[in-house]
Formats: sequence, structure tokens, C-alpha cells
Amino acid sequence: MLARQGNYYEKGFNFRSVKGLLRMAIISWSQDYSVGVVELDTHHKQLIKMINELHFAMSKDRGQQLVAEIVNGIGDYAKMHFQVEETYMHEGEYLGILKHIREHKGFVEKAQEMANRCDEGEFILSFEVIEFLSDWLKNHILKSDMKYVPALKSKGGR
Ligand SMILES: [Fe+2]
Repeated sequence: MLARQGNYYEKGFNFRSVKGLLRMAIISWSQDYSVGVVELDTHHKQLIKMINELHFAMSKDRGQQLVAEIVNGIGDYAKMHFQVEETYMHEGEYLGILKHIREHKGFVEKAQEMANRCDEGEFILSFEVIEFLSDWLKNHILKSDMKYVPALKSKGGR
């Protein structure tokens, strides 16, 4: 990924050409994202990878192809990840689980809507998908997911 990132910038893609994209630079994993469970951290790293792949795709003129691949893969990713995460929350007897599951459902619905639009041949911008996933990272993983960390730790999170 590092080599790809370097290549990406060497290609001279002009971030300024897309409003707001400057705020969405390549994302690196850090401990700030860790929920203290290796399995869940691994899943969250996959999400960061998707965002970075989309950034990369925009510099390679294969944005739409990759957008379609990623958009169609988000549903499967979410189903797998949310199921595991909800099991951990259940085992940790996390009291906020119902509200959390509602957020997951909202994500799945939005991902499904994007996948449908893709299937119907609509041209979906990498930008829109990056924004959707980045927003999830910032507002769900860094906020909602962090709230279950104490409950999982008290149950000996892995
Ligand atoms: Fe979550």
C-alpha cells in the first residue's frame, strides 16, 4: 500500500479539483482506531483499505470499475463484520447494543442503495463512496464503536 500511495501522489492527481477532497487524504491505521479486539481491528483495517483503494483508483482512471467492485463488496463486508461485532457486544453485555445495531442497519441500507444504483448503471463517484466510508470511520468507528470498548474489556476482549 505504501508503494501505491507514493505512486498515487507521483501521478500528480489534483485533489483541489474535487471540492472537499483535501480533507480526505490517505488514511493510515493507528491505535486511535483500535477497539482492543484483534478480530474487529482487522475488519476495520479492511474498511480503511477500501477508502485508500478508492483514492488510488481515482488517480488511475479506473474509478468507476473499482467503485462498482467496492460498492458491491460493502454489503458482504458489513454483514460479516457487523455479525461478529454484535456477537462481541452481546457477550460483553454492552447496554448500548440496540442503538448500535440500528446504526449498523442504517449503514447496510445505504450500502444497499448504492449497490442498487450501481447495478442500474448509474455512475457513482468514487468521491461519494469515499465520503460515505470516511464518515462511517469518523462517526461510527471512532465514536459509537469506542463506547463498547469498556464492556468488551471487562469480558476479556481478545
Ligand atoms: Fe459498529
